[in-house]
Amino acid sequence: MSAESELTVAGLAHDLNNVFETLSEAAELLSSDSKWTKLANTIRRSVRRGERIVASLNETISDPGDLTDILDNAVLHTEDVLSFTRGTAIQYARDIDPCVTLPGSTAAWERVFVNLFLNAAQANPQGAKVEIGATCAGGIVTVTVADNGPGIPASILPTLFEANVTTKKSRGRRGRRGLGLHIVQSIVAEHGGAVTAQNRQPLGAVFTLTLPQAGVS
Ligand SMILES: Nc1ncnc2c1ncn2[C@@H]1O[C@H](COP(=O)(O)OP(=O)(O)OP(=O)(O)O)[C@@H](O)[C@H]1O
Ligand SMILES: [Mg+2]
Repeated sequence: MSAESELTVAGLAHDLNNVFETLSEAAELLSSDSKWTKLANTIRRSVRRGERIVASLNETISDPGDLTDILDNAVLHTEDVLSFTRGTAIQYARDIDPCVTLPGSTAAWERVFVNLFLNAAQANPQGAKVEIGATCAGGIVTVTVADNGPGIPASILPTLFEANVTTKKSRGRRGRRGLGLHIVQSIVAEHGGAVTAQNRQPLGAVFTLTLPQAGVS
């Protein structure tokens, strides 16, 4: 990282930490009224996630992350988002080989799975089913995330991981859409891996992540 971008990251972290402090104070105030306990807890969890993401910007090396812990956090985060945006909760099925660990920042991996889960929920608003599989062989970890939605429109499959590719009509609060899968691909690539997307029969999309297994050379 160049000295200039280090300063930008430090500046962003500093200013975002001020935002987190304000939100934490707001959560404390809210929690004094039992009517708002659930909201206060969601804000606190979201602040902790934000802090972890900010901390991960400066992380270069960390202990290999346990996929089950990463998925637990990503599921909780996705539930928070869906419950506060009136989305239907996802039903998950997992088949995780215990040999699987992910290299690098656990906060970054959480972002990968939250983006994939939210896409599955948005593709199937009636209530998505998401199957997560993970195996390791020959020093390579393979993680699949499959859903039961309508599948990815053929017109965007070739450019799916590029920024600003979207079928959403509404713009985000910051005016941008079509960033989720670009973020997924950037994080996977930063960790030396690759991600692909396919549709499967009779329905649904499947995302496949392949990565070097942490701690295996
Ligand atoms: N699981 C999925 N099933 C069907 N289509 C999908 C799925 N995941 C992604 N897509 C399609 O790919 C597009 C791009 O996804 P991406 O996550 O990059 O952006 P977005 O969800 O449109 O916006 P953002 O994530 O920035 O809010 C989506 O608009 C949708 O059309
Ligand atoms: Mg998305």
